[in-house]
Amino acid sequence: MPLKITVIGTGYLGATHAAAMAELGFEVLGLDIVPEKIAMLSEGRVPMYEPGLEDLLKRHVVGAEGSTGRLRFTSSYEEAGQFGDVHFICVNTPQKHGEYACDMRYVDNAVESLAPHLHRPALVVGKSTVPVGSADRLAARLAELAPAGADAELAWNPEFLREGFAVQDTLHPDRIVVGVTSDRSEKVLRDVYTTPISEGSPFVVTDFPTAELVKTSANSFLATKISFINAMAEVCEAAGGDVVKLAEAIGYDERIGSKFLRAGIGFGGGCLPKDIRAFMARAGELGADQALTFLREVDSINMRRRGHMVELAREAVGGSFLGKRVAVLGATFKPDSDDVRDSPALNVAGQIQLQGAQVTVFDPKGMGNARALFPTLAYAPSAQEAAQGAHAVLHLTEWREFRELDPVGLGELVAERRILDGRNALDPDYWRDAGWAYRALGRPMA
Ligand code: UGA
Repeated sequence: MPLKITVIGTGYLGATHAAAMAELGFEVLGLDIVPEKIAMLSEGRVPMYEPGLEDLLKRHVVGAEGSTGRLRFTSSYEEAGQFGDVHFICVNTPQKHGEYACDMRYVDNAVESLAPHLHRPALVVGKSTVPVGSADRLAARLAELAPAGADAELAWNPEFLREGFAVQDTLHPDRIVVGVTSDRSEKVLRDVYTTPISEGSPFVVTDFPTAELVKTSANSFLATKISFINAMAEVCEAAGGDVVKLAEAIGYDERIGSKFLRAGIGFGGGCLPKDIRAFMARAGELGADQALTFLREVDSINMRRRGHMVELAREAVGGSFLGKRVAVLGATFKPDSDDVRDSPALNVAGQIQLQGAQVTVFDPKGMGNARALFPTLAYAPSAQEAAQGAHAVLHLTEWREFRELDPVGLGELVAERRILDGRNALDPDYWRDAGWAYRALGRPMA
């Protein structure tokens, strides 16, 4: 009998995982406690923008035309407990309000709600990003609460998907990491991931703490790489160097690699910022805080970028934002996503607005979420309309459509041809040739 899978939590991670498991041939039941999400997903609609996900969902969700019918959704833990052999926990683990630590309440609730319904052997697999030590604690709780007792096992299987590439990353992971305490759990997870393993995805088996740490250390490394290049941008600005050339040149060294060396206004989103903070908090609890003090610097370099962008913009408009119109291109924390959580772009837009400018924002997919978070900013339905009458245009999220803008046409709409590239993603010559003053972070003025 093929394994039956449940996926608890249907955000970016869970919705993608559920659809991907159906694509791999399993029968899948997705669970969420938010009824609106269940209603949307059951109709084959995705509550967020993620390229390719809606198609994948429609291919499998019960009732969609021509679908395999292998995927459906519920809000009942009882149903999930009866249905599944393997239960993936994909709920979010946000930063605690007013603290660095991770808020585990959704993970704890998921385990505590599911466990009493596990009457037969089952594997509960955590995918959420959690502080090291959580899996040990949750395994004990599971054994305590599940009627199946020791036959209800826990495994930890961190997820490395990137928003914007979630479908690809889930179906073809660059590695599969499983923290297990028994051969049986390992075997079940090898069965779940038979297809990607056969396609060559490395399968790394570890204990619980290592599996948990792989995730937080990977995100810390990525954050460090971005802050490293942003620190170099600061030095380049002071010394008259060009950080884009510098990144290209060091990136040719295979030990360094060219990815994640794009200097700009820094990292945001629902993962990197809160993960490095939760990691520091956890290391503190373990008495290993010294090992991670560098992450404090990584965080502050990153946060400094936003302030620096605001300063550059203020300088560009003549020293004060009062009475100035500023167009902001981009609101999401990165392109190909509608996610505005801790978005550097929106943070910069908000700061400039607070300093007296009239800020108009356009984003290809993030307008709804941006409006909900920052209702006081003005929003325009296109880049052109946002740029109308602007004294400066700020490019803050590197959507492809912004790279394809026509600087000549846009130049006719603005009050002043000034563009600040917060992502080092536009072609300076192209803009300068059209009469724009182009300024970017960590690059020479002209
Ligand atoms: C990140 C990790 O890359 C994933 O591997 C991980 O699974 C995920 O967090 C998670 O923990 O769930 P994601 O948050 O989707 O994925 O975004 P990234 O692609 O890592 O980008 C993060 C931020 O860094 C963005 O704001 C992006 O604009 C910025 N960035 C990225 C730079 O400023 N420079 C770069 O060179 C690269």
